[in-house]
Amino acid sequence: MNVIETEKEIAGKIAADFIKSDMIVGLGTGSTVTYAIKEIGERVKKGLKIKAVSTSKSTSIMAQKLNIPLISIDQVDSIDLTIDGADEIDPNFNGIKGGGGALLVEKIIASISKENIWVINSNKLVNKLGKFPLPIEVVPFAITTVMKRLEKKNFKPKVRKLNDMYFITDNNNYIIDLYLGSIKDPKCLEIELNMIPGIIDNGLFLNIVDTVVVGKNNEYEILENKFKAKFF
Ligand code: 5RP
Repeated sequence: MNVIETEKEIAGKIAADFIKSDMIVGLGTGSTVTYAIKEIGERVKKGLKIKAVSTSKSTSIMAQKLNIPLISIDQVDSIDLTIDGADEIDPNFNGIKGGGGALLVEKIIASISKENIWVINSNKLVNKLGKFPLPIEVVPFAITTVMKRLEKKNFKPKVRKLNDMYFITDNNNYIIDLYLGSIKDPKCLEIELNMIPGIIDNGLFLNIVDTVVVGKNNEYEILENKFKAKFF
């Protein structure tokens, strides 16, 4: 296993320690959170009682295989704790998510979670967001008009493809990735993007995370976001 994978595994496994019996747990999407889900599966086998809400079809399939009880978002008012991955995190606990294309559901789940934990490998900690392409989810009907507007703004947009076809999200939308290089003002950019009709949401997750578990070689570090506003 290479260093990145080792760091992902450590972060994922440690995050499972935050789960207590009888919790409603949000399960994120991506390779790092996969390690957390495997660990949760082991604990469920040993008697841990939880109910989980999934952020994607791929995560649901994995949870079902591991006999982790799944419930729909419609069955809950809130989620106790969500464990998810991220693509970049800056020192203000702002992040980019959506590399796996599940940003919309991930943001909805995060917004009703009392606590959000992200699991990452160490090279995802950055000083400034934007080196990782920023994903935005777009209604298929609007893909051309949105592309034109983003090109005009010089946001260097590219429609995401998979096997030469447009990538389709779990919600039957398209993803446009913005190759920004660096994001000066994430809050301003979020507002600007959300004002373009046809864009459903973007991968900027600003001050949403409470705790970050960072894998660092064979160890880990836990970063607490002391400035996070609590809504629950
Ligand atoms: C999916 C995500 C993922 O959490 C993010 O892309 C990190 O993935 P990985 O752990 O595979 O690096 O936001 O939409």
